Amino acid sequence: MNLCRFFFASGLFVFPVISSAGQSFSVPQLGKDKISIIVSAMTLDEKVNALMLEGVSGQTPGVVGAAARGLEKYGVPPVTMADGPAGLRINPGPDENSTRFCTAFPTATALAATWNLALMENVGKTMGNEVKEYGVEILFAPAMNIQRNVLGGRNYEYYSEDPLLSGKMGAAFVNGLQSEGIGAAVKHFAANNQEKNRMSYNAVISQRALREVYLRGFEIAVRESQPWIVMSSYNKLNGTYTSESYDLLTRILREEWEFEGAVITDYLGGQDYAAQMRAGNDIIMPGGEDRSDAIKTAIRNKTLNEKALDENVFRTLQLAKRTLRFKSYSPSMKPDLIAHAMVSRDAATESMVLLKNDYSALPVRNEKRVALYGKTSYDFIAGGRGSGEVNYEHAVSLKEAFENEGFMLNPSVDDLYENYIGGLLAETRPTDWIQEKFIIAFSQELSVARKTIEKHATESDIAVITIGRSSSEGWDRHDSVIFDGAPAGYFRLSEIEKSLIKNVSEVFHEAGKKVIVVLNIGGATEVAGWNQYPDAILCTWQTGQEGAAALTRIIKGKVTPSGKLPVSFPIKYADDPSSTSFPGEPKDNPVNSLYKEGIYVGYRYYSTFNVPVAYEFGYGLSYTSFEYSDLKLSSNTFRKPLSVSVTIKNTGSIEGKEVVQLYLAAPVKEIDKPARELKGFVKTRLLAPGESQTVSFTLDGRSLASFWSGISTWVAEKGDYEIQVGSSSNDIRIRTKFSVPGNITVEKVNDVLYPNVLIKDLTSKVEN
Ligand code: BGC
Repeated sequence: MNLCRFFFASGLFVFPVISSAGQSFSVPQLGKDKISIIVSAMTLDEKVNALMLEGVSGQTPGVVGAAARGLEKYGVPPVTMADGPAGLRINPGPDENSTRFCTAFPTATALAATWNLALMENVGKTMGNEVKEYGVEILFAPAMNIQRNVLGGRNYEYYSEDPLLSGKMGAAFVNGLQSEGIGAAVKHFAANNQEKNRMSYNAVISQRALREVYLRGFEIAVRESQPWIVMSSYNKLNGTYTSESYDLLTRILREEWEFEGAVITDYLGGQDYAAQMRAGNDIIMPGGEDRSDAIKTAIRNKTLNEKALDENVFRTLQLAKRTLRFKSYSPSMKPDLIAHAMVSRDAATESMVLLKNDYSALPVRNEKRVALYGKTSYDFIAGGRGSGEVNYEHAVSLKEAFENEGFMLNPSVDDLYENYIGGLLAETRPTDWIQEKFIIAFSQELSVARKTIEKHATESDIAVITIGRSSSEGWDRHDSVIFDGAPAGYFRLSEIEKSLIKNVSEVFHEAGKKVIVVLNIGGATEVAGWNQYPDAILCTWQTGQEGAAALTRIIKGKVTPSGKLPVSFPIKYADDPSSTSFPGEPKDNPVNSLYKEGIYVGYRYYSTFNVPVAYEFGYGLSYTSFEYSDLKLSSNTFRKPLSVSVTIKNTGSIEGKEVVQLYLAAPVKEIDKPARELKGFVKTRLLAPGESQTVSFTLDGRSLASFWSGISTWVAEKGDYEIQVGSSSNDIRIRTKFSVPGNITVEKVNDVLYPNVLIKDLTSKVEN
């Protein structure tokens, strides 16, 4: 349209325009006119403006942007977007009386440990309500990358090592969040599994591992919840930045999975902005003159077709039209933080995993006087560091939570730690509470002399030791202790921590008293070197502002633990299947990260290659026990989706919930397969002693299929399949078989995303 445009304001939304021919007409309006008409009325500058996320504040918490600034004349509202996965991350405000504190929910790994989809949906809904009432339209969550390696710095923000658990949890969260009229931004698409060189490393992954492991969770979430946004990741994937990959963003995400929303870059992600537009990455975060100019130059030089840009703009306006701001919603700025704290507490309670409980040490019965060891007992870690942080008003400490439950803390132990923490802070002088918390989390543990512990044992009924680990966006963790200033959150326990556990356990046991270790951690940590000492070990994760309160409810027996591990806990780092290839080559400055373990991530590796772990995927004890019976199958031959049901009975004397896990062992004929793969899970309702529940699952073609990359097809191989239903990936309680009479072509997909570097996947099959 070659028109000379003049704009005269007339009324609130309608701007009359006079063409060079002297005709007057109205500027098309969002909501009234077709989006395509608005796009064709826009100037190039306006189009490019519509794609720039302005006002993004990066590291500083704050409302991060408005994708549609300057487009008011078309009735297009700004769209405000903010982090993140454990709760809304906005600046609480300039003064102490501000009410803009947000609820810190458990981190994603902890939420996944609940294995409870209804709970997850409610967490999403509650977070969505808070986002809505603070006037934000899009939440940069959930983060859904696979926890490929135990040292991944952002593992705490991600759900699991398993794509089904990640995908289902992500979908439930998005459905809950979006039910409040708030958009989710599923991130970081895709294969963003390390922090080392996170903005440049090239993830080299076979097509099979990509499809079965790294894309699968995203696929489930997109197909089952239609998020409004997908955020592309920082890294390259098989040679191309994900934000510049047409194959990933258009051919897979849009064409195959039917994604209807917009794609945004991660903060400063990618390099070639015109390529991003072409690939289908619509919004650029953050906006900037260089980015806008690059796109305009590409249009002028004819290296970018304006039609492609129009599609990006179309999707961005579609996004703006979905928002509550467009629908004139006025946020109260006063979400019900007390109610939200209770949702956070209940989610935290269900996420905790009881790893060890000898002689029913837990729940505690008569013990009253607690010797509370470990620096993070006094400053419980609520979450990880980076864009996943939340500005909450108060996180309950373990000390406070014990006192609230009627326990008495041993004052000598208390003094010891308060002095130690006081000294740490006096030495480092943190400038705000976020820094203060991280100094405590990342410093050395206090060394306590055995003689001192002997005195404590005479004055206390029980000992509780907290081992804390934090980690951060921007750095991966280390295997062992390195105090080099980087917030590493190492995998192994330090010698000080190990002798604390050993000495406290020996001394308290000599006095006939119990010892409980609490793991206040973001992801898997070494346990095998010390787990023989304490009576009980409870993994509480980083469970938000109410984590400590949730923990004491479990210790006291008010709630039976029902969390299960969403990640394997290896015995030692070297056992991790990616330990030799993570974080890529060269190790100190990786260019390529070769995912040589292929599909063998987490339990897929440990169970196939018979590598023992400290605690396996899906593991978690309860105060009660469950019996599995009546495994029924709709047919013994797969011709259409199979229905599977099994009955779970609470055979103990305490009420509790069980996570029922369905694994499938597929025949290994034409291609290699893991020993078992998770294909379904259900968390029972709260079962009273003696009560039963029958739970059911459906197995469709995709549940049976593997990806044959040579023909780019999901194929369910002919042969016998075993259904294994159990309480963890190593604790299969009941099995049955069915057969597939002939190979089934389940789905043929685009043959794209080849590795650009030679890679040979690990295989368990003996090659001819
Ligand atoms: C992170 C994203 C986050 C964005 C905006 C990036 O550094 O990778 O997860 O949403 O910043 O804060």
